[in-house]
Amino acid sequence: MLKRSLLFFLIFSFFWIVLPLQSNGKKLDLPTGKLIDDFDEFVETFSSRKCMECHEEIYEEWEESFHARSMVDSIKGIANFFVVGVPKEWQKELNKKEILKCLDCHLPQIKYATERLALEIADLMIEAKKAKEAKDEARFEKVKAKLSKLNITCYACHNIVVHRSSPGWFGEPDPQAIYTANEDVEAEHPTEYTPTLKSAAFCAWCHGVYVASDGESTMCNTLSQSYYHAYISLGGRKTCQECHMYAKDRGHRFPGGHDLEIVKEGIGFQAEIKGFRYGVGKWIPAVNVEAFLTNRAGHRIPDG
Ligand code: HEC
Ligand code: HEC
Ligand code: HEC
Ligand code: HEC
Ligand code: HEC
Repeated sequence: MLKRSLLFFLIFSFFWIVLPLQSNGKKLDLPTGKLIDDFDEFVETFSSRKCMECHEEIYEEWEESFHARSMVDSIKGIANFFVVGVPKEWQKELNKKEILKCLDCHLPQIKYATERLALEIADLMIEAKKAKEAKDEARFEKVKAKLSKLNITCYACHNIVVHRSSPGWFGEPDPQAIYTANEDVEAEHPTEYTPTLKSAAFCAWCHGVYVASDGESTMCNTLSQSYYHAYISLGGRKTCQECHMYAKDRGHRFPGGHDLEIVKEGIGFQAEIKGFRYGVGKWIPAVNVEAFLTNRAGHRIPDG
């Protein structure tokens, strides 16, 4: 009898101790790779918030980055492409395939949206642009709040696009793993090692010319081309990560053209100033300024 109650006690304590450990939200649910049709489920599945509780500092850095605003910062340009570029200039119907020509980089998880949801997201961009043009601030803010939940999340870089620069070499990523550039990591979630995250090619896939599945190319920005042609080919050695992440502990903030500190770093300024006087009869003091601007960034600036 005593033995039995001890057994019950042990079983009870086991569940009492172990179950709460598993159910206090610590477990990370990774996406399954299935297409999603519901907006809220889509946001929740790929959200960076899922990583926040354990990687708080990185989350805060990421939140400040332009990667966290990859949709709201580009509403006008992207909506124009959807309402003018695709239907009027290219005479094509707007569908997921056309939407991918912008959002494959601006919202990589769009890959896992159904055709219907992809169109719903495109419509939100269009609605935001229209509200802005109609100066309907209340409507604009409402749509923008929804759009701000869509961005380049942790999972996008640490899974979806991780092998895009060299698909033949590494193949499709496993949706149920988090990819890292470090070997033998012990984490609370499955991790896989990949060298790509340390390479410039990883960033260049998004920060360069895009070739769509139908062979058409989108030239949103050409920064990476100048990285290879005007920096690496002239003896530059640094990767994007070295200047934009490791230097000054910039981490996941990825400062660029909107950050005065890194902008100053990119421009060398040297000036020669000569004073002189000119004029007939009266002498007018003047200066001759010769300024030399040198580009110290790893590519052409500004870009876009
Ligand atoms: C339950 C806590 C927890 C959650 C939630 C979590 N992680 Fe982690 N993660 C860890 C721990 C612990 C490690 C190993 C120690 C470390 O490197 O921080 C780790 C390691 C990593 C690494 C490898 C770090 C390295 O040193 O190479 C990456 C990348 C990573 N996590 C990304 C993510 C992403 C992306 C998410 C959200 C989709 C996420 N993690 C959610 C706990 C968590
Ligand atoms: C290959 C990936 C890629 C594709 C495809 C892409 N973009 Fe971009 N887009 C970027 C990157 C990277 C930036 C940031 C560039 C920078 O700051 O140098 C950007 C920035 C922008 C901006 C903001 C520019 C600014 O001045 O703030 C707009 C608007 C934009 N893109 C519109 C589009 C449209 C419209 C399409 C589809 C026709 C598109 N993008 C397709 C990668 C892409
Ligand atoms: C734009 C792409 C991008 C996004 C978005 C991104 N990461 Fe990273 N992350 C990287 C790259 C690249 C590295 C590799 C740096 C290295 O080791 O060379 C990295 C490294 C890491 C590491 C390991 C090393 C370190 O710096 O501590 C962790 C952990 C991590 N990321 C977590 C996250 C989390 C959590 C988020 C979202 C809040 C996130 N990342 C968003 C690109 C990204
Ligand atoms: C999934 C595509 C994607 C990947 C991968 C990516 N970026 Fe970006 N990045 C973007 C987009 C899109 C923007 C612009 C968002 C906007 O303003 O609309 C951006 C913005 C930036 C900015 C800010 C530019 C500014 O004007 O302030 C910097 C810096 C940057 N990225 C560097 C990097 C580096 C370095 C890497 C590689 C470690 C990287 N990115 C990987 C898509 C990407
Ligand atoms: C040698 C250091 C260095 C390297 C290497 C480098 N960058 Fe930069 N980058 C800078 C500096 C400095 C700036 C700020 C200059 C400015 O915008 O005036 C900058 C600006 C940017 C911007 C903002 C451009 C704009 O027009 O506002 C983006 C995006 C960017 N870099 C992405 C990348 C990517 C992607 C790579 C790799 C392919 C890379 N960088 C390699 C130093 C570097």
